[in-house]
Amino acid sequence: MPRATSIYLCSACGHESARWEGRCAGCGEWNTLLEERRAPAPRDGGRSSRHRRAVAVKPVVLADVEAIDEARLSTGIGELDAVLGGGLVPGSLVLIGGAPGIGKSTLTTMALANLLAAGGRALYVSAEESAAQVRLRAGRLSVGAALEIPVVAETDLHAVLATLEQERPEVCVIDSVQTLHSAELSSAAGSVAQVREVADQLMRVAKALRIVVVLVGHVTKEGSLAGPRVLEHLVDCVLQFEGERERTYRTLRATKNRFGSTNEAGVFEMRDDGLVEVLDASARFVAEATRAPGSAVLCAMEGSRPMLVEVQALVSHSELVPPRRVVAGLDRNRVSLVLAVLGRHAGIGLGAADVFVNVVGGVRVEEPGADLAVALAVASAAKRVALTAGRGREMPIGCFGELGLTGELRTVAHAERRMAEAARFGLGLVIEPAGHRTLRSALEGAIGGGRSTKLAA
Ligand code: TYD
Ligand code: MG
Repeated sequence: MPRATSIYLCSACGHESARWEGRCAGCGEWNTLLEERRAPAPRDGGRSSRHRRAVAVKPVVLADVEAIDEARLSTGIGELDAVLGGGLVPGSLVLIGGAPGIGKSTLTTMALANLLAAGGRALYVSAEESAAQVRLRAGRLSVGAALEIPVVAETDLHAVLATLEQERPEVCVIDSVQTLHSAELSSAAGSVAQVREVADQLMRVAKALRIVVVLVGHVTKEGSLAGPRVLEHLVDCVLQFEGERERTYRTLRATKNRFGSTNEAGVFEMRDDGLVEVLDASARFVAEATRAPGSAVLCAMEGSRPMLVEVQALVSHSELVPPRRVVAGLDRNRVSLVLAVLGRHAGIGLGAADVFVNVVGGVRVEEPGADLAVALAVASAAKRVALTAGRGREMPIGCFGELGLTGELRTVAHAERRMAEAARFGLGLVIEPAGHRTLRSALEGAIGGGRSTKLAA
């Protein structure tokens, strides 16, 4: 009986199905299954290879394994190097994901320009824009060797592989992995099979020639790497570039890193002449904090670095059932949880109110310590009381802590570093789990003038 020659692959998660289905059984997304041609099965059903006598392999003690050369290539961008765990590792595959317009091409162009300026060899493969467009962008950048970057505008995978063999750069940027395609597969560029093939072939060349290959990938509006989610296990590092396009601040995070921790995060600002590292993020956010009802300063951790950010909330009478919950920069479900805890354990019911919560500047905060800031900002908005301290009530109050479902305030990591950052930027008061065991108590401390943790200096 002839076997079906097509299979269906989910473009979101890579799930395989023998039939087309409206909804992916793997991830539950609708309309994501795409037809792919199945590779012809071996005539004998693979029996011969299975029955070949396998030769046993001798295990080696780890200490005898040759260590990887630790020499790293610096991208000349401190924040990027830190997120990578100290720079690019030769022969590794790095995936940078982010929404269109976030600055992936800008960041990678700047990194290549710096590498060239430092005497390295680089190559920029643009499969999305023409060489003239890449030039236009590079011309805006204030980094030295931006216009000296060798560029090829090419969408054919095999042409790119041949170019890599010939040029032997140390670092190559593929912008983007979804627009490159292999003529050997019939499916469209960007489909799961293509993306997998492209990454697979590039990885082989990267390892063989010790080239760092930086793959640029687009993400869907839900924030997951479209198609390339199937790449996450293949590459050595996955970096996520996040933020809102219309805002100036962007965060770069590692969600996977075989050569470093995934704790580091970098903050960038998009300017006219490219991306600039933001090293004094706390100072800016505190200076800009409004000190009005609905504003709370969160002592957040961006990886291993403390950072003060402003969380704002607006509570208004709703005409809708159910009322609106609009969240930017935070996890929506987490905010829903905080609102439920506020209603149940602090007597602040918001069932008939629209609630808007936003992290100022377009930064995204993804840590449990943000719960208390959301709760205080919403409570402050609902009660129309500003969260300020000091004699003239001129200093914003800082806060951090995770909320439990029973209304308790839970400790979060790096309390001392958060407190030190708050002290450094002159916050008058910090509401945190060491001083308050419950949300109710924290609210009294912040709004009702109850117990509070005074800062040392
Ligand atoms: P880009 O790097 O092309 O984003 P991506 O590759 O992630 O799609 O840049 C995105 C935006 O940044 C673009 O809309 C223009 C803006 N931009 C600046 O504001 N300043 C600059 O120096 C550059 C190069 C771009
Ligand atoms: Mg781009």
